[in-house]
Amino acid sequence: MRTKLDKVKLNNGVKIPSIGLGTWQIPDSEALVDSILSAIQLGYRYIDTAAIYENEPSVGEALKRSGVKRSEFFISSKCWAANRTYDSVMRAFEESLRNLKLDYLDCYLIHWPFTKGDPLAWQSVNIGTWRAFEKLYEEGLVKTIGLSNFQMHHLVSFLARANVKPAVNQLEFHPGYTQKSAVAFCKKNGIAVQAWSPLGHGTLLDEPIIKEVASHYDRSVAQLILRWCRHHDVIPVTRALTAEHQRENLNSFDFDLTAEDIAALDNMPLMGFSGLEPDHVSF
Ligand SMILES: NC(=O)c1ccc[n+]([C@@H]2O[C@H](COP(=O)([O-])OP(=O)(O)OC[C@H]3O[C@@H](n4cnc5c(N)ncnc54)[C@H](OP(=O)(O)O)[C@@H]3O)[C@@H](O)[C@H]2O)c1
Repeated sequence: MRTKLDKVKLNNGVKIPSIGLGTWQIPDSEALVDSILSAIQLGYRYIDTAAIYENEPSVGEALKRSGVKRSEFFISSKCWAANRTYDSVMRAFEESLRNLKLDYLDCYLIHWPFTKGDPLAWQSVNIGTWRAFEKLYEEGLVKTIGLSNFQMHHLVSFLARANVKPAVNQLEFHPGYTQKSAVAFCKKNGIAVQAWSPLGHGTLLDEPIIKEVASHYDRSVAQLILRWCRHHDVIPVTRALTAEHQRENLNSFDFDLTAEDIAALDNMPLMGFSGLEPDHVSF
């Protein structure tokens, strides 16, 4: 049976489903097509991919085979770090559209802030990349444009020069790694936050202290964490290959958390962290 999901209104009026299906580290394959088709059947409409995942063709194939109207979907992809000039963004975007067999995207993100090399250059490289995003947005080729992995110090200089305010910032966000200052800064500036790896890439599912909190509700750890994300107005993008996990995750929003349990999840010690810090990645 299909679950109908709430939607969140972004700062330009476009609506996004309140949970997304991630596709990181799933190879382009019939298995991925089948998995996305299963998710679509269950009610997922927001699919998150990226050029660097090299699986956009399978996402596009699943969308085509699903028979669901294009306008029902929210399809998001990301511009990889190697494509940070105006012309490269344009080429990369066209390639993503071609791979996805689409004529527009619902969302396009700068995958990582440019921070390598010259300590001053990164600010102008980020905004130069954004100028191409703004052009794609003005031309209606993408309905919303946004960022990923931008922390507060990246955002401050960026927002001062952006003509179009980013609609979203996709951050690693989960109990044990909450990036409080970046999340608060985004909220204050009307930028919706999406959580990547909300389940800590699966590593949080066996954490005894989170299991204990989940037991207060007779819910799974995955459901507890996804509900906690929504408590913070954060939109989780979770990967779930199997129909069982996909269904379970969709049914995470029909219970309330106590203030004590929210505080417990907010204040977990560092856990589940990917180790990816935007200023120290090698790309
Ligand atoms: N912007 C960025 O830089 C960035 C970086 C990383 C990721 N992302 C995006 O965020 C998405 C999510 O992150 P993620 O892939 O690291 O993982 P995640 O959602 O934190 O965890 C996925 C893992 O949890 C398992 N799982 C999911 N639901 C479950 C459930 N109900 N019960 C038990 N296990 C469950 C999955 O298993 P099965 O798959 O076997 O079901 C998978 O092993 C990515 O796929 C990608 O789209 C973005």
